[in-house]
Amino acid sequence: MSSVVPAVPFPLLPTGAEEKDEELRRSFVRDEDERPKDPHNVFSNEIPVISLDGIDDVDRRAVMCQKIVDACEDWGVFQVIDHGVDVDLISQMTSYAKEFFALPPEEKLRYDMTGGKKGGFLVSSHLQKEVVRDWREIFTFFSYPIDERDYSRWPDNPQGWTPVVDAYSQNMMALADKLLEVLSEAMGMDREALKRSCIDMQQKLVLNSYPKCPDPHLILGLKRHTDPGTITLLLQDQVGGLQVTNDGAKTWITVQPIPGAIVVNLGDHAHFLSNGRFKNADHQAVVNKDSSRISIATFQNPVPEAVVFPLAVREGEDPIIDKPMTYADMYKNKMARDIDLANQKKLAT
Ligand code: SIN
Ligand code: FE2
Repeated sequence: MSSVVPAVPFPLLPTGAEEKDEELRRSFVRDEDERPKDPHNVFSNEIPVISLDGIDDVDRRAVMCQKIVDACEDWGVFQVIDHGVDVDLISQMTSYAKEFFALPPEEKLRYDMTGGKKGGFLVSSHLQKEVVRDWREIFTFFSYPIDERDYSRWPDNPQGWTPVVDAYSQNMMALADKLLEVLSEAMGMDREALKRSCIDMQQKLVLNSYPKCPDPHLILGLKRHTDPGTITLLLQDQVGGLQVTNDGAKTWITVQPIPGAIVVNLGDHAHFLSNGRFKNADHQAVVNKDSSRISIATFQNPVPEAVVFPLAVREGEDPIIDKPMTYADMYKNKMARDIDLANQKKLAT
């Protein structure tokens, strides 16, 4: 473990004996090669911003498709505007999320997700078994399938939040539906192809709260990763902190926050279905000294038994995976590999 000790502990972690406290603080410090090189607020405009206005018009849709193809081949990320999701709903969802994270710890911990509960609150770790911790708190809602929702895990504090989460989740599902149709066409397939290969779309909302951090050059809000599913729709506030790389982490760019825009990330599932032509966005979140930050990720995933295999293999290409596997197996292998890699690396230093 690192010999560097952050100046203050993560706000919500229990402090105790001095020795234990120091060990906890150190558990946030990244290895040098993982530490962020670029600040949260020097933005790049390299990630395309695509208007979905006129999505049903043949000519405008063709132009949109081409922009999406370019963005997905280069980055696996683009931002959408004019997406039809009500701006008031977006701002309500963000302010309720902020109010929730500002509640006293005991109130948030009523929804503690540790111990395998489906949905709820977690402090400071991306993958629970990893040695190095992320500087964030999260709240997870399992929102689709609707008949599997456990409303006892949906806090109605702040009061009136539940119907807003419900409306937000429906709106994100409808937007994902539209985007999957365009993405299918962008891969040269019929509109329904991606949705068909998911069998049914599942959805999970993860709210991220990144408190101010005294040592943003040593620590990550969320470590480098790709999302496992089909697409992720990310709403972020105006602070900035989402970074993307397309050269294996040699260089990073920070995505420009745009009020009301939604960042669309392609996950591993979409990457495999496109036979690697479309990138699975390689991203991380950095933190800063001056402002806390909120983001809301909506993960759109296939059902566990959906078969993962390239759908769009172009002439002269071979499939990038040898044999079909289920999404459940793909996910299990990915998580095991990521945790192993991170821990082996950490223990070797
Ligand atoms: C995520 O990757 O789920 C969140 C990224 C962010 O907070 O910008
Ligand atoms: Fe992510």
